[in-house]
Amino acid sequence: MTDVWSERADAYRESEAHRQGRDLELFAEWAAGKTVLDVATGGGHVAARLREAGCQVVTCDSAPGMQPDVICRAEDLPFADASFGVVTCRVAAHHFEDPAAAVQEFARVISDLVLVADNLYLGDAGEEADRLRDPTHVRNYSEDEWRGFFEQAGLEVEAFEREAKRIDLEPWLARAGCVGEEAVRVKELLRDRIEDGRVRVDRGIFKARHR
Ligand SMILES: C[S@@+](CC[C@H](N)C(=O)[O-])C[C@H]1O[C@@H](n2cnc3c(N)ncnc32)[C@H](O)[C@@H]1O
Repeated sequence: MTDVWSERADAYRESEAHRQGRDLELFAEWAAGKTVLDVATGGGHVAARLREAGCQVVTCDSAPGMQPDVICRAEDLPFADASFGVVTCRVAAHHFEDPAAAVQEFARVISDLVLVADNLYLGDAGEEADRLRDPTHVRNYSEDEWRGFFEQAGLEVEAFEREAKRIDLEPWLARAGCVGEEAVRVKELLRDRIEDGRVRVDRGIFKARHR
């Protein structure tokens, strides 16, 4: 099977869109000094920011090409109960087959906090555009759906922020290899969200702990 994420590893390591953001700053503030498991680490931007904040970080990802410390699925973490203070997971859960199972796993391996940031549900046209741009996209979830995942995992949301993100359109298409007619169709579907060459999305940033 082609490991599409491993093939994209350099594009995600070098991605300006992933290198900065309010979510990274909040994660650094909330996790400062703690032991952290960064799930679906991708290009490693969360891990790098958290190490600057004095955290001890272990990374995991399902794609070997991302060169994580541990290769595993978010839905099936090979770690003992409460073996980390904090789990972080940023802009990745919309690719998971079973995000509810992943959040259950996050809750199981922490003693303190689960920190998740992901783009929120875009509506029918936006979700179709996301899947066309990147066939590994499953779905973005609404704030309420996220609250449901936390609740089912025995977690309560202690803080939530909604960040208005502006993502450069052409590099965003290029990272997923979306070109030609498909790129044209993606732009049509997103026309209400495109302004000055950037796509507007809302990102939900959640801080949760055991109830
Ligand atoms: C957009 S990148 C993550 C970006 C990164 N967290 C950051 O903040 O820069 C998505 C990552 O999710 C990983 N991934 C997709 N499905 C996964 C799963 N079920 N379990 C673990 N990792 C997964 C991919 O391999 C990829 O590295």
